[in-house]
Amino acid sequence: TKPKILVTGGAGYIGSHCCKALAKAGREPVVYDDLSRGHADAVRWGPLVVGDMRDRALLEKTLAEHRIGAVIHFAALAYVGESVGAPEHYYDVNLGGMTALLEAVEAVGIDKIVFSSSCATYGTPDRLPISEDLPQAPINPYGRTKLVCEWMLQDAQVAHRLRFAALRYFNAAGADPEGEIGERHDPETHLIPLVLMAASGQAGPVKIFGTDYPTPDGTCIRDYIHVDDLARAHLLALDHLEAGGESVKLNLGTGRGASIHEVVAAVERVTGRKVPHELAPRRPGDPAELTADPSKAAEVLGFTARYRDLDEIVAHAAPWFGL
Ligand code: UFG
Repeated sequence: TKPKILVTGGAGYIGSHCCKALAKAGREPVVYDDLSRGHADAVRWGPLVVGDMRDRALLEKTLAEHRIGAVIHFAALAYVGESVGAPEHYYDVNLGGMTALLEAVEAVGIDKIVFSSSCATYGTPDRLPISEDLPQAPINPYGRTKLVCEWMLQDAQVAHRLRFAALRYFNAAGADPEGEIGERHDPETHLIPLVLMAASGQAGPVKIFGTDYPTPDGTCIRDYIHVDDLARAHLLALDHLEAGGESVKLNLGTGRGASIHEVVAAVERVTGRKVPHELAPRRPGDPAELTADPSKAAEVLGFTARYRDLDEIVAHAAPWFGL
């Protein structure tokens, strides 16, 4: 049997979907999570170690005791708006967590890390779709912590034997197609859950942040990728590293964008409900359009998103909001 995988942040949204995918592939995930944002009841496919990412001693003990073979590192703070108001906290947790992880894996001799990076590391790109060779110039503290973490991995690779896959997610969306786990953020700030909450009456009208962007309908365009596709990409990245593959930095997106109006229309089509909404001013720090050039992940990992249709992504998310 193949070695166990440490999944930091495995109680969170993308992390829990990745654990399920690992288990389905016959791998055993060991979750390490402080439960500050994640949910213990989303940890169902292996043990849960409750701990802080900055606790190097506990990380090292967990890696050794469970005879971990590789790490998938999700655990981090991930709200752009919050990072603008509390940058020190973001640097502390996200960089402190990566520091402790790198020290711990080096101490026990683990040489493979799959890392959750973000399209936020590109900032406001001057070309679309975004390919991996575009300059990384993040425009908020959250994006900067993700970029510095990529640099830390790079430096650790030079100093030690480490190999890594930095996966730059576009907009994670949807939920487990089998309905076992879903997206539960508190507070919720992401568009698709907020639109579903407005449709079901669990929240007030959704605010559409900006209708004067230079896009066809004036609202922001994002590349929504199904969380199940993201989970599968992590398994492929892990296979790549376990097969001796070199370090890689890859975009994970579908290559197709949807506007906010298109998301609202998809929710109305799928749920048959009207979505109460209000036009609102722009949210600071939002680029008009972010879409991935997904060709490198296809080339290197053989990964392409299976869920190409926004309606299908919305249909999997909807039951989580009683729809
Ligand atoms: N939006 C609204 N109303 C809302 C919430 C969002 O109009 O109530 C808009 C946003 O302005 C944006 C789009 O919907 O144009 C998507 O917003 P999300 O907050 O769902 O997602 P973001 O694109 O802002 O953020 C995502 C990830 C971040 C990551 C970022 C990279 O959640 O972790 O992409 O830009 F950093």
